[in-house]
Amino acid sequence: MDPTDVAGEPQYRTLLAVDVSEAKAGQRVRLAGWVARRRDQGGVYFFDLRDSSGLVQVVVDPAEVPAARDLRMEYCISVEGIIRPRPEGMANPDLITGRVELAADDLRVLSKSEPLPFVLDARVEPEERLRLEYRFLDLRRPRMRANLRARSRAAAAMRDTLNDRDFLEVETPTLIRSTPEGARDMLVPSRLRAGSFYALPQSPQLFKQLLMVGGVDRYYQIARCYRDEDFRSDRQLEFTQLDVEGAFWGREGVFDTFEAVVAAVVAELRGSSLVVPFPRMTYADALLRYGTDKPDVRFGMEIRDLGDLFEGTEFRAFSAVLDDGGVVRGFNAGARDLSRSGLDALVDRAKALGARGLVSGAVDPEGSWHSSAAKFLSADEVAGLTAALDGSPGDLLLLVADSARVTAEVLGQLRLDLGKPEGHDDLSFLWVIDFPVFDELEGGHLVPSHHPFTSPVDVKEMRERPREAISKAYDLVLNGSELGSGSVRIHDPEVQREVFEILGISAEEAERRFGWFVKALRYGTPPHAGFAMGIDRLLAILQHETSIRDVIPFPKTQTGTDPMTGSPTEVDPDQLAELGISLSEAAAATDDG
Ligand code: AMO
Repeated sequence: MDPTDVAGEPQYRTLLAVDVSEAKAGQRVRLAGWVARRRDQGGVYFFDLRDSSGLVQVVVDPAEVPAARDLRMEYCISVEGIIRPRPEGMANPDLITGRVELAADDLRVLSKSEPLPFVLDARVEPEERLRLEYRFLDLRRPRMRANLRARSRAAAAMRDTLNDRDFLEVETPTLIRSTPEGARDMLVPSRLRAGSFYALPQSPQLFKQLLMVGGVDRYYQIARCYRDEDFRSDRQLEFTQLDVEGAFWGREGVFDTFEAVVAAVVAELRGSSLVVPFPRMTYADALLRYGTDKPDVRFGMEIRDLGDLFEGTEFRAFSAVLDDGGVVRGFNAGARDLSRSGLDALVDRAKALGARGLVSGAVDPEGSWHSSAAKFLSADEVAGLTAALDGSPGDLLLLVADSARVTAEVLGQLRLDLGKPEGHDDLSFLWVIDFPVFDELEGGHLVPSHHPFTSPVDVKEMRERPREAISKAYDLVLNGSELGSGSVRIHDPEVQREVFEILGISAEEAERRFGWFVKALRYGTPPHAGFAMGIDRLLAILQHETSIRDVIPFPKTQTGTDPMTGSPTEVDPDQLAELGISLSEAAAATDDG
């Protein structure tokens, strides 16, 4: 029997699986979806029908419905029958529809499935490459379905919040002029002007600033960005930002807006309310106390500066570092009883992270230390350290002496290794403020700490002491991840010119690369500020995923490939010829391979 016709079209379903409930017992309904988990019992077939809403158990007697005999996993079917309560003791408490089943008397295979490359409803996680090659199957899995749904709801919550505040959603181009934002550009060759290239935007940064010049008071966009940078679990070649900018705005407007946006998303996905405003910490404080500009403040183990305790110390390893302008810092890793080999492993880890060594001490009941370094330290130094790190008997204290940068990196990472809580149930948001205007590379060269369009707090200070100058940039951090960045922008073309100059960009070069943008600044630019938040990162954390790939419908692998479509691929030589591009021998050889 065909599915009931409605206006000449087959009706595939009258209900979603999740709506099959005890209240509807006795009703005749039709469902459509995929065959998941099949079992035969005493001549009667049981299978789960999965659709976009969930699962429901279907019971069918093949003697009555012969088509049931040919069902295989993931066949796409439409099935009709009567909803009935499951027999006594057969309810499945893990399933929303677990107290009922559909007694089917009509079943139609809409399309068959080949044998599966992996089991979709298994508890074991399939290998990721295979999941990406068969993403269309992977997306049928409940976890991925939940992530897609969460992403859509999060985007809706963001839009609702911003629309309520009179923001305008504006699209900006994705074929743009190459502009540096820290990563490598992805280039697109132009056919009409062979030899010239567009770039895909690393972010809509300059366009959103131009919108401010253009009189758009409040802008937002869920914007796709492209960066040719090295992969990590929280990075992709293309990713999505919630991008925002406002005119006649400063930091407080940005903070207030993003606190509302994030609270709306968390309310939507977690059903919980956030405490706003979020706490704030200066960049300098974050680096000193947590060894990083994105501190995970869900746990303590704060790093303390201990240099004062070692003035005139006999301990050569420390005195040499201090004389050299370095620092001695440490933290209390809490009560832990590490074996000799456990301690050795910590030292190895510290060295692998770049430290020359790691001094550890376990506080004993008398307040002295079990430590191979104890013999180099005076009793006063040990007592001072224990007090400075709030050490109680049994606590493990860890110390590093090195440059401020290395010490921060090593202690910051050891702190995470030893203390980072499993899972992501707590959400600790934090604004990090007062970033420097510039970072100094080895060799003294200055690069923008955020991007070159960020306003310094004090232009005169920036001119005189660029290395110490503080900017109006800020980051939003969640559980130790950088969720977003922004700044108050430069709206004075003269200040913009000075920043380029300090960055070593000559007037000619600035004119060539950014002249089109700086020209706009000369036409009555309002003061403005903005922010961009990584939507993939926010979703990954809220959905308890460790990789952003699991919240992106069709992501790339760690090596930038797509196993499903096979991209990137070589292209037809005619296409290249049209673009005026010829491959070097090395590139051509790679393509052949
Ligand atoms: P920024 O470069 O800091 O700032 O990027 C903002 C946020 O975007 C996310 N993000 C990424 N997510 C996944 N993969 C990547 N490769 C990737 N790179 C960045 C992060 C990051 O915090 N135009 C400025 C913002 C501004 O000043 O308004 C910008 O793009 O979550």
